[in-house]
Amino acid sequence: MSRYRIEGGYKLQGDVSISGSKNAVLGILAAAMMLDGPCKIENVPDIVDVQVMLEICETIGAKITPAGEGIYEIDPTNINTFEATHPKVKNIRASYYLLGALLTRFRKATMYMPGGCNFGTRPIDLHLKGFRKMGASGTRATDIRDGIIRIVADELVGAHIFLDVVSVGATINIMLAATKANGMTIIENAAKEPHIVDVANFLNSMGANIKGAGTDTIRIKGVPVLPGGYSYSVIPDQIEAGTYMIAAAVTRGDVTIHNLIPKHMEPLTVKMLDMGYNIEQGDDWIRVSIDDDMELESTNFKTRPYPGFPTDLQPQATVLLCLANGMSRMHENVWDNRFQYVPELQSMGASISIIDRCALVNGPCSFSGASVTALDLRAGAAMVLAGLAASGVTTISSANRIDRGYEKIVEKLRGIGAHIERIAGDDEHVVPIDDE
Ligand code: UD1
Repeated sequence: MSRYRIEGGYKLQGDVSISGSKNAVLGILAAAMMLDGPCKIENVPDIVDVQVMLEICETIGAKITPAGEGIYEIDPTNINTFEATHPKVKNIRASYYLLGALLTRFRKATMYMPGGCNFGTRPIDLHLKGFRKMGASGTRATDIRDGIIRIVADELVGAHIFLDVVSVGATINIMLAATKANGMTIIENAAKEPHIVDVANFLNSMGANIKGAGTDTIRIKGVPVLPGGYSYSVIPDQIEAGTYMIAAAVTRGDVTIHNLIPKHMEPLTVKMLDMGYNIEQGDDWIRVSIDDDMELESTNFKTRPYPGFPTDLQPQATVLLCLANGMSRMHENVWDNRFQYVPELQSMGASISIIDRCALVNGPCSFSGASVTALDLRAGAAMVLAGLAASGVTTISSANRIDRGYEKIVEKLRGIGAHIERIAGDDEHVVPIDDE
């Protein structure tokens, strides 16, 4: 278990580059398990969630060969089981994509209920309902025994599926199951996140017929074979990019963030402009800076499915609001328990009260260094940001949770002038990652 030690108060300056998208690559790796031939995936971030997913894929028989930095050759042709029951399946939420992938490959799939960050009830009823409409059984809540799901379909048939809640996971999982189903599947009220488009683009490049990803209606015409055989490069990580934009902002620094897609950052850039930051952008970069005498204005955020403000940037953006003058509001509309990190920020000097699903942030505060815990991946990122802005020293325990989603975060932050180091340590707050 590692901790981060941050000496705060230094303005970040310089250039930083964004890695491949965690949530895209996790879907793409699962999708690769359905192919009838090998493929190559590039721009794969070196993060714990990806390592866990690669290990799980190997346990079902996929051959995975590193082929350079961030590049893997993946050969799924010898996958020999429809059972994803390795204990690590419970560690990451995205292992649920193996349900759709194995169902496609074998017409049956057995899996532990997946894990992931612990922020409220995380059902998969919509995924199962979609599979049911396509002809699968074992998809009702009462069919789940001892935390194991067993799904069987004599035949997968295209269906018209309306999602009554916009769900990223259900959209991708149903898309996977539909890719080789008989006939046409239409997903309505689909999620539109960039990583959904990326998984669809990956599958199309390997022989699938998916149209409309990125809109709220996706049409998937089932194909008999997915030949594979090509290389695919994963899109940049929207959430990592947003975290570095906020890192520049909370230290009143001047940082250019490279290898991102500016369009994906709009929900954040519009708010940062409102608050008083300078934002310049080019084809694949954004520069964040602020004038010396600029006082930050308060603002309000509401998390929403894409193209709304992403819930995965909510804890980080709350740190930013702590530095603005007056009362700001952060409304969390996606998850029902995603303010667990607030007491940690309060211990560093933040003035925040929670009413239902809204954090009322009274700024500006002066953060002071403290010993805090990364309660989940993005909560941990928020602690890093507060530590960078704070006076004095902050130590963050359970930092392994941050490593789940940020490639080389310590090295990247040091590269733009942060005083951060990884320190070893057993600490009393550590909860093993398997418990998430
Ligand atoms: C994905 C992301 C996660 C992000 C979330 C929302 C991955 C691996 N994880 O999670 O980082 O926070 O999108 O952008 O990509 N819901 C149901 N029934 C279901 C599924 C979801 O009611 O079957 C509800 C959830 O309780 C939640 C909402 O739908 O309120 C959104 O969840 P969803 O988009 O499915 O999140 P994940 O795909 O799990």
